[in-house]
This record gives sequence, structure tokens and C-alpha cells, in this order.
Amino acid sequence: MSTSLFRRKTIDSILKEAQQSAGDAHAHGLKRVLSVRDLTFFGIAAIIGAGSFSALGPAIFNGGPGVVVLFILCGIACAFTALCYSDFASRIPVAGSAYTYAYASFGEIVAWIIGWALLMEYAIGNVYVAFSWSDYLTSLLSKLNVHIPSHLTCSYSEASGGRTPELLQIWNDAPTLFGLRIILDMPALVINILITWLVYIGIRESRNFSNVMVMLKLSIIVLVLLIAGGLIYRLGLSDNWTPPNAQGVKTFFPNQFSGVMKAVSGVFFAYIGFDAVSILAEESKNPQRDLPRGMILSLIICTVVYILLALVLTGAVPYAKFENVNDPLAFIFEPQNLNIGWMQFLVAICAVIAMTSVMLVMQMGQPRIWMSMGRDGLMPPIFKKIHPRYKTPHISTIITGLFVGTLILLTNSQFVLDFTSTGTLFAFVLVCGGVLFLPRKEKVPGQFNMPYINARYIFPSLIVVAFAAFMLLGNPMEGQDGLHIPTLLFWLICAGLAVLAFIKNLSLIPLLGLSTCLYLLTGIRASNWKWFFIWFGIGLVIYLSYGYRKSRLARTDGE
Ligand code: ALA
Repeated sequence: MSTSLFRRKTIDSILKEAQQSAGDAHAHGLKRVLSVRDLTFFGIAAIIGAGSFSALGPAIFNGGPGVVVLFILCGIACAFTALCYSDFASRIPVAGSAYTYAYASFGEIVAWIIGWALLMEYAIGNVYVAFSWSDYLTSLLSKLNVHIPSHLTCSYSEASGGRTPELLQIWNDAPTLFGLRIILDMPALVINILITWLVYIGIRESRNFSNVMVMLKLSIIVLVLLIAGGLIYRLGLSDNWTPPNAQGVKTFFPNQFSGVMKAVSGVFFAYIGFDAVSILAEESKNPQRDLPRGMILSLIICTVVYILLALVLTGAVPYAKFENVNDPLAFIFEPQNLNIGWMQFLVAICAVIAMTSVMLVMQMGQPRIWMSMGRDGLMPPIFKKIHPRYKTPHISTIITGLFVGTLILLTNSQFVLDFTSTGTLFAFVLVCGGVLFLPRKEKVPGQFNMPYINARYIFPSLIVVAFAAFMLLGNPMEGQDGLHIPTLLFWLICAGLAVLAFIKNLSLIPLLGLSTCLYLLTGIRASNWKWFFIWFGIGLVIYLSYGYRKSRLARTDGE
């Protein structure tokens, strides 16, 4: 028996436990029905959603056309991370994703921390998507002359701030019950209930539904790109890509790079989801080969889509007009912009579909992580139960639905957006770091094999070049008051990693994933860090008072 907080599970024991726990995989376990095409579709279903349909507006306002660079940067960070996920997924093809991977590489406490961070990604991320879904549905209905009262389409927490005259009016006009104002986002709650039900009844039904939605949303996005792209060319709008900055100089970065970095939460949120593919390990036909392929393919497709979308949006309409625009794709077709009414309508429908598919995948991911944590004893046994007929982790699914619903009642969209991006980036950092801890793997034909490139000289040289560029081009975080501590920490960690790479001949790909994700974390605002640490404090208390004692490794031998 091990009492260490860092007790680890061996990869062999993880694989054996998954088989045992599933018992006879056909009788009690999850169904293996997903092919590489399904997994790619799942990836796209999870990735393209509220990030592009909503958060892109404020991101463009902050970063200007230069936000394209942030999409490229996030795409690169996610690509390296996807390769690390793929490496893990090919070694440990069981549900649980980064949580399970951390158990094998860092040990139990870090696995718990990642499980806790993934809760931010999947469940809390879904709260943001539900809010955005509700915004689009409400505006779609109003175009059809169906009006839901404002106090039933707005979150309590947002209205109580009264930041804009509209919100203040909602607050003042809302009916009261026992002195409490009745303000809640009803469509967000309803979609949460519907999605929870769909995930509860089964993976096959969810897959079919998800594949149809992905086809629809990709078709409409291609239409947006073609129509808006064609108009940029025909109307000669390309000057929008180099607007004047405060000094009147025409530039791709009107708010400097610091403006671009302010958009990190929104842009990174748009990429979240590719890793959800790894959660479906126990439902895919050949996880060691197909999970990596599905993850990487979906990421490549979405990165191309995002770069084109950001270019088209910033070309079609001057970036400064995107202030407070939460439906940017429909906005560019409004009368004062490209003026195509039917496209506005089509985009709104597409947004509702796109976000439904994101919610579906995310809501499937969370219960499967809890199921793994339940198997390990870190969560109560009820979390690992599988429905005898539907073969889904049904109790975890219901608890996820309740959790998301509660947060829809208690929080607001900006808060959950920042919170989700911080937690997910943090989990990615740990996944990339985790790969560095694993022994090198023998190449197995038919499985994903992470290419090993010795970072000994390359990584330190890259860091020196990047640091020189950083000093020469000026601090990208210019405009922030005083010393920017996260940036300073970033360079210190990079220096440490460069030394380690040199001494230990580390692998280049996970190092690049680690450093690019760490760089993105420097863009997170200070107030988010406060909530992030509070969240982890709560997680640690729960772990120490329950998981540490009940862990299976407390009863059996870990490593
Ligand atoms: N990437 C997903 C979205 O944008 C979470 O909605």
C-alpha cells in the first residue's frame, strides 16, 4: 500500500483495471462503435461552436486583424498538445483522457488536479456554450416574431451587475417572488436538459445526431467564407486588414500584440474540444490507431476554418465595429455591413446547430472522466455505474446535467469563458509535461508513434531566438502596468526547460507543446488566476478528505 500523494498507476494496471471494470465488455461495458470518421466528426462537433460564433466578436475587437496570428499560435499549441494526447492515447486506450494519462506519469494528486481542471473544460465550458446557444436562439426566434421575455433569457448574475442600460432595465423590470427577482436563462437550461437526456440514452444515438449537425455546420461555414470572401474581393474591402492604429499608422496589429493577447480566452476557447476525442477510447473500434487520427484530423480542419473565418470577418467589416458583438458571423451580413438578410438568418440557424453539437460532445466527456475517477476510488462508486440497457455512465451523466444547470443559474458567460480557457490550458500544460516523464515507446505498426526529435540543441536555440525577438520587437505585453509577472515566469520556466532539454535529451514535440501553452497562459487576466486558485483549493480539500483515503491505490500497491 502506498501513502504517497504521488502514488502512480502503471500503464499495465490501468489497462487491466479498465477491462476488469468493464467486466465482459459486451455485457456491461460501453459499446465499441466509433470509427476514425466518427471520431473526426466528434472532434469537429466539439471544436466549432461558441468560440467562433460568439467569442470571436470581442476577440476581433481587441486584437484587430492580427487576431489571425493568435489563431495560428493557438492552432500550433493545440497541434503539439494533440500529438501528446495521441501518444498517451495510443499507450493507454481507456476512457478518462488527460486524467488517466496523468495517473500514469505524474501520480495521483496531479491526476486529481487534472480531473478537476477538466471539469472546468467540459462542464463549465458547456455553461458558456449554453449561454451563447440561448443568445442565438433568442435572436433567431425574435426574427420569427416570437419574443421570450428578457428576464427569462438573461443570467441573474449578468443582470445584477447592470453594466449596460439594457441589463439595468431587465433587472428593474423583472417580476419578483418572495423578494427574489426572477431572472434566469431559460433556453440555456432547456438545452442542457435535452442534451443530458440524449447523452443518457446512448452513444449510438448521440453519434448519429452529432454527425448530421457537423455536416450542416461545415456547409454553412463554407458558404459564409465563399460569400463574404467574394464580397471582400468584389467591393475592394481589403483595406480593412490594415486599419490605422492610435498613431494613424496602417497596420495589421492596430492594438499592438498586447491587444491580440487580450483575446486569448476567446480564441483558445474556440479550439477546446479536440481532446474530447480521447475520452471516447472505450467506445472506439481501434483506439490506438483511430483516436490520434481523429484528434489530429479534426484539429487540422478546424484550424484552417478558423484562420479563414478570422480573415474573412476582419476583411468584411472594420475591426472596431465588433465592440460588444456576440454574433459576429451574423453581424457581418447586417444591413450596415454586407447587407444580406437571408445569410443572417442562415447563420443564426447554423450557430444553434453548431453549439448543440459542442454541448453534446462536452456533456459526453465529463461523465466519462468521472467514471474513470470512480473506478479509481477518487470519486464515490456511483460515478462508475453503467446503465444496463443504454450502456452509458448514466448517473454521472445526470450529475453533470445538474452541475451545468446549477452554474447556468449562478454564473455569467464572461466569467465561465475565462475560467474554462485557463483550466484547459493548465490541463494541456500537464499533458505535454506528462509525456516528457514517460519512457520512450517501442514503435508498434498500426499504432500512433510520436516522432522523437532530440531537443538537446534545437530547443535551447529556439528559446534564445524567441527571447531575442521578444526583446528586439518590444514587450508584447506592452501597455500592461509595470512588470508582467506571468511573462517573467514564462521566460524563467523556458530557461529551466532549455537546460533540462540539454542535459536529458528531451523530446522536442512535448517541449514545444508545453512552452506554447505556457505562453498562452501569460495572456490570462490576473482576476482569473484568483478564481483558478480558489477552485483548486476546493479541489484539494475534496481530494484530501475523500479521494486520498478511498483511492484504490490506498488499498493496493501503486508504483
Ligand atoms: N470549442 C468549443 C466552442 O467553441 C468549446 O464552443
